[in-house]
Amino acid sequence: MLVKSQEDRPICKEDDISIVRSSVKRVVALLNFSLVNQTKIITAASELARNTLEHGKGGHALIQIIDDGTGRIGLRMIFEDTGPGIPDTDRALEDGFTTGNGMGLGLGGARRLMDEFQLESHAGSGTKVSITKWQERL
Ligand SMILES: Nc1ncnc2c1ncn2[C@@H]1O[C@H](COP(=O)(O)OP(=O)(O)OP(=O)(O)O)[C@@H](O)[C@H]1O
Ligand SMILES: [Mg+2]
Repeated sequence: MLVKSQEDRPICKEDDISIVRSSVKRVVALLNFSLVNQTKIITAASELARNTLEHGKGGHALIQIIDDGTGRIGLRMIFEDTGPGIPDTDRALEDGFTTGNGMGLGLGGARRLMDEFQLESHAGSGTKVSITKWQERL
């Protein structure tokens, strides 16, 4: 797996979420994802950016164009914070589970919308969520 390009965006205030959204919009168009997949990716990225800000108390997003080694291109986004972490990640992924005022659909939704989803978190030590969508084969 090769990282071909990478952007690192801070997520420290509300406006940063729109900046991340705009970067993701630009990259999905550049990679020629179908309109359906563009929408899925932008939705997943928005949910995770919001979690980073609101639950993680701020962090950053890495937006990477990757190659699987066979020439297949994908978009990977890593959302990382050093906030309070998630004590029970299985529970957090369940639809409807929230510790805030949300609907508790963000994490599970992001997992369903993407091809790959990894969540690493421990109470007290921050959270890292990595999501990937591979380009459709022509
Ligand atoms: N980066 C994070 N740091 C700490 N806790 C998190 C983080 N992301 C998610 N969580 C925890 O997981 C729960 C579920 O997250 P999820 O995004 O599914 O729902 P929500 O953010 O509460 O509501 P919604 O996204 O539907 O508005 C959150 O309520 C929070 O407790
Ligand atoms: Mg959320």
